[in-house]
Amino acid sequence: MCGIVGILGRGPVASGLLEALKRLEYRGYDSAGIATLEGGKLTRRRAEGKLKNLEALLAKEPLLGPIGIGHTRWATHGRPTENNAHPHATDKVAVVHNGIIENFRELREELRAKGHKFVTETDTEVIAHLITDAMQNGMKPVEAVAESLPRLKGAFALALLFNGEEDLLIGARQGAPLAVGYGDGEIYLGSDALALAPFTDTLTYLEDGDFVVLTRHSAEFRDARGLPVERRKIKTLASAFMVDKGNYRHFMAKEIHEQPEVVARTLAHYLDMSAGRVALPFDLPVDAKKLQRLTIAGCGTAYFAALTAKYWFERFARLAVDVEIGSEFRYRDVPLEEGGLTIVVSQSGETADTLASLRMAKACGQKTIAVCNVATSTMAREADVAAATLAGPEIGVASTKAFTCQLAVLAALALAFGRARGTLDEVNEARLVSELMALPGFMAEVLKHEMLVEKLAHDLSKVRDILYLGRGTSYPLALEGALKLKELSYVHAEGYAAGELKHGPIALIDEDMPVIILAPTDAVLDKTISNMQEVAARGGRLILICDPRQAQDFARDAEAVIVMPLMPPDFAALVYAIPVQLIAYHTAVLLGKDADQPRNLAKSVTVE
Ligand code: AGP
Repeated sequence: MCGIVGILGRGPVASGLLEALKRLEYRGYDSAGIATLEGGKLTRRRAEGKLKNLEALLAKEPLLGPIGIGHTRWATHGRPTENNAHPHATDKVAVVHNGIIENFRELREELRAKGHKFVTETDTEVIAHLITDAMQNGMKPVEAVAESLPRLKGAFALALLFNGEEDLLIGARQGAPLAVGYGDGEIYLGSDALALAPFTDTLTYLEDGDFVVLTRHSAEFRDARGLPVERRKIKTLASAFMVDKGNYRHFMAKEIHEQPEVVARTLAHYLDMSAGRVALPFDLPVDAKKLQRLTIAGCGTAYFAALTAKYWFERFARLAVDVEIGSEFRYRDVPLEEGGLTIVVSQSGETADTLASLRMAKACGQKTIAVCNVATSTMAREADVAAATLAGPEIGVASTKAFTCQLAVLAALALAFGRARGTLDEVNEARLVSELMALPGFMAEVLKHEMLVEKLAHDLSKVRDILYLGRGTSYPLALEGALKLKELSYVHAEGYAAGELKHGPIALIDEDMPVIILAPTDAVLDKTISNMQEVAARGGRLILICDPRQAQDFARDAEAVIVMPLMPPDFAALVYAIPVQLIAYHTAVLLGKDADQPRNLAKSVTVE
């Protein structure tokens, strides 16, 4: 939701803080700010809007302090104004915060009664006053933090800077990620490895409840009880990835085009391509033969990946699958059987509702697999098995390459379960593995025809409502297409199971309603064709995404046809995802929207 960073440096830290915030901006970007000690005195610079506004302010009014904290915000409490921008401060302490303090109102009333004056609408400001109150009662910074943290309810990660303390930073973690980075005579705090990549590849992740006391030459970790605890150092890959746009206009465009490569890289991690069989890099955490049901949970695009995988687990592993939206699943009283299996799907590995689903499944005695794109994320670390998607850092807020890599991992898992349960023989395993191996080639082929989609986007950018239809694994893809269009271009779109058209949505069909139908040549194509004809018969604006045969048969009925390669239907969703992504991207760009950072969104929803 928000990005936080802290630097205990040997020289001025403002530019380093800005560099880190640029790598965190995808997490939230409606305001930003930094605080440093100028001659030992807490000094802030904050700006509404994108990070470039803060950068301009610092160019005019530079900060030279050798210690500081920074923040890029996705507003939860309080409008996205400069006054509500972090860091929030009193005369003793400045704080940057990612997350939500659920009991901030009662704490604010308690502190107001003691004479504290609040100047913002945020929950975060309470943290500064709570610690200040403890210090006013004679406590040193570390004691004051240890005293205050247990009173905060909710999920948060904090970085704290103290007036007059030029060799002290304190970080705290409760439900939102926070890492310590180690440099040469410098030390860092950051929301994730990407933020710290410019400085170091050696990190320690705080565990839930931890806080850490940092000086330039030491890091002392304390657990939730305030007792000293050891936390291990790890090397991360984040710095190995060049996080820039290359020759693309947006990260999203780059990441759409990276898909053939990263899907191939991900598949290679799960398949023995020479032997033509599945070769998972880990043991399944359950006896697949005994498994009665499988639960798969996720949010947003990750949920649609889960919905797609349902078809594969049912077909190849003959396994009943419950697919769950994280925010609903976590609060239902679900009868999960002891020893069962829950898979969670998440690009960031930090999405609050999906993480809560993982924790609930574990509390019910389930084994868990986390399909994640961030190997050091909370879900990857808390699940029994971390099934990595090797998409590389996904900076565009809209998920693209992570989605197709999630599908690749889930497809390999479905085949592995099929083999383990004896429902998939070697011959069919080899056939399906070879189909998976062919996907990157088909994806690359589709990307060559991007210009056709750009032309279609010109028409779509003029409409108010769009309907996506699909059957089988094209149904979750219809949902994903509608989500992409909504979240990027702000055009209203709905995804529907094509078979549902007659149960209501057909009333929407008229000459103003574009209907995008995903129609790979699969077992339900003839039913999808009937739906196409129902749309055409009512003057609907038919847009087909189909292979050359259907294109030839139905071009006359359609306003536009995106011709896809002829391919086996089993895993066509990974390839048909590309035009779906490109339609959303080009429509957004034509409408002048920010394709990398759509309004109101954040890359990782770490609060409920
Ligand atoms: C994807 O385009 C969306 N930005 C969003 O729905 C995202 O998929 C969802 O928030 C889940 O995020 P996660 O994969 O990091 O858990």
